[in-house]
Amino acid sequence: MTQTNETANNLNHYPGLAAKQSSWQHHFQSDALQGKTILVTGAGDGIGCTTAKTYASFGANVILLGRTRSKLEVVFDWIEAHTKTTPVIVPCDLANLDSETVENLANSIADSFGQLDGLVHNASRLGPKVPIAHYPADEWQKVMQTNVNAVFMLNKGLFELLDKSENACVIHTSSSVGREARAYWGAYAASKFALEGLSQLFADETENAGNIHVYSVNPGGTRTAMRKEAYPLEDPAILPTPEDHMELYLALMCASDRVSGNVVAFTTGQQLDARNWLQSSS
Ligand SMILES: NC(=O)c1ccc[n+]([C@@H]2O[C@H](COP(=O)([O-])OP(=O)(O)OC[C@H]3O[C@@H](n4cnc5c(N)ncnc54)[C@H](OP(=O)(O)O)[C@@H]3O)[C@@H](O)[C@H]2O)c1
Repeated sequence: MTQTNETANNLNHYPGLAAKQSSWQHHFQSDALQGKTILVTGAGDGIGCTTAKTYASFGANVILLGRTRSKLEVVFDWIEAHTKTTPVIVPCDLANLDSETVENLANSIADSFGQLDGLVHNASRLGPKVPIAHYPADEWQKVMQTNVNAVFMLNKGLFELLDKSENACVIHTSSSVGREARAYWGAYAASKFALEGLSQLFADETENAGNIHVYSVNPGGTRTAMRKEAYPLEDPAILPTPEDHMELYLALMCASDRVSGNVVAFTTGQQLDARNWLQSSS
């Protein structure tokens, strides 16, 4: 991370992010992520889409994994039109992820990029908000499969590629109800607790080697389709946008890399709260 005006990223192609960049405390060189390969799950919409566009805008080759091909194609076209990076689309329903698909994904990342420098586990299934006594068992399985089991399978199957990076970053996207459960959040809350455990495990196992940094990030209430589904009566205008969180997402992905001056210190295994971070940096 650097702060000179000459190297500040020109984000004219991305006005929504440029508007936020002007108030960031930390500034990132326009090539801060150049040469890095980053996989973002749920990259077709919401926070994942914004994260993918942001990382590409700072030079990363982004692998866009998501459920709906047409949404991924829109993000792919935007990245191709506005950056000099090489995006890749991976249409995939994580609820049906199997080890053969993970192996094929790992092989194609190895062939195209050689290693993986970032893995953002962002995709998530909300599931119904009903009491446990009425929670449909098949829906419980799908939520756990998407939000936890698929994350485990990707961490396992992509580990060797992450380990080839000198400075890899894995972000697990959590939630407030994954740190303190609330009634009716069902499998979503349980899955986010499990994700926090997985994040701590992975951080502890990789800490000594030191080249893979693992975090969990709770975005907190953010203006997306999932938030609308969870709180249909809420006025979205009161919420931060995904772009509001991109200073944190960039700081995590760039930490200890190309750093000069303003170092943001993160500790592997750390639990972060994006809305607290936003307040403290504004
Ligand atoms: N927004 C908030 O207020 C908030 C608060 C706390 C935590 N979070 C967390 O932040 C992350 C991003 O949420 P968001 O608000 O950006 O949600 P979003 O706008 O609904 O986007 C979620 C993305 O995940 C994809 N996805 C869902 N199920 C999938 C599956 N089975 N396989 C592959 N992709 C799948 C969706 O694909 P399709 O579009 O094709 O369905 C979508 O692109 C989630 O982990 C969520 O739990 C959000």
